[in-house]
Amino acid sequence: MTCNILVGGGWGDEGKGKCITYLCYHDEPEIIARAGVGPNAGHSVEFNGEKYGLRMIPSGFVHTGARLLIGAGVLVDPEVFHYELDYLNKYNVKQRTFADYRCAIIEEEHKQQDKASDHLYKKIGSTGTGCGPANRDRALRTVKQAQDMESMEGFTTDVPLEVNTALDEGKDVFIEGSQGFGLSLYYGTYPFVTSKDTTASSMSADVGVGPTRIDDVIVVFKSYITRVGEGPFPSEMQPEEAEKMGLEEFGTVTGRKRRIGLFDMEMAKESCMINGATQIALTCVDRLYPSCERVTEYSDLSGEIKRFVEEIEDATKVPVTIISTGPDLKDTIDLREELI
Ligand code: GTP
Ligand code: IMP
Ligand code: MG
Repeated sequence: MTCNILVGGGWGDEGKGKCITYLCYHDEPEIIARAGVGPNAGHSVEFNGEKYGLRMIPSGFVHTGARLLIGAGVLVDPEVFHYELDYLNKYNVKQRTFADYRCAIIEEEHKQQDKASDHLYKKIGSTGTGCGPANRDRALRTVKQAQDMESMEGFTTDVPLEVNTALDEGKDVFIEGSQGFGLSLYYGTYPFVTSKDTTASSMSADVGVGPTRIDDVIVVFKSYITRVGEGPFPSEMQPEEAEKMGLEEFGTVTGRKRRIGLFDMEMAKESCMINGATQIALTCVDRLYPSCERVTEYSDLSGEIKRFVEEIEDATKVPVTIISTGPDLKDTIDLREELI
């Protein structure tokens, strides 16, 4: 029985989608439960030569034997939910995806308010997906829940009951987080943050699993840092410099150009501390060091890359167990066996 959580260590878009897909396909957990804010997330998944962009359905969908649950803490936009169920139809997701009946619902007015708000959309640079206004209404206790919505009928369940029962029966559960440490409402770069805490403790609360039941917390870092939206970014570089290094990126949800910067060791240390990290997944190593593109063995990495990995381990005191060398789930170095 294991219950692991994966979270972002930066300002989101660290490549969580890729890591979740790899881990779920490889480890085959019984339940994959989505935590985090809501459809402001955009996880990219590349599997069998196809690319998927996901905002609501767990990225572990590629493991077709798993139940895909959305925790009560997550905001559900029924339009996005049903769009993705159709979009991923060939993975049989309609038969195995359920949201907690207490999930708060994003309605049209939330999206409109988000986009019309000078504070949220212009100053903070929100995604315009209605998450902030829906979480405001949740705090005011006026928001609708999934159980109130006709469109969610047949797609709701008691997520904590399912997850804790699975653990009691000795099965494995994987909790997938969204956003990243720097976007946490509590610990991020306030006010340039999202509408909720985004650290591992909140992810376990989102799906109703107590902290005593968590085995591993995997924090995902990109080999460089990206940020979309406004706010401080100490290691940011000029866009021209990023372009020269071949590091341009665009957002999955909004299509906005991502700001780019160098890996920030101080942020990584704080992120590991507050998340209680037990493992680190390091992504996009191939984009910083093209020599390692699609490499799957640690021994095939250059000395320069190995030194970068060791530097991160020395500073954070957390082992790097997953190294991602390309967007496809196959482009992965898995070092977890070496921990045992
Ligand atoms: P949020 O939930 O929005 O925070 O996103 P995310 O963490 O799932 O990341 P997202 O998919 O938005 O962005 C990561 C980008 O990097 C995607 O385009 C991935 O396909 C890509 N990617 C992930 N890992 C690797 C890697 O190791 N190498 C390369 N070249 N691309 C990668
Ligand atoms: P909101 O969550 O849409 O209110 O946006 C608040 C801030 O968080 C903005 O800077 C967004 O760009 C950022 N943000 C929210 N979710 C994500 C994500 O999944 N990836 C990257 N940035 C995000
Ligand atoms: Mg994203």
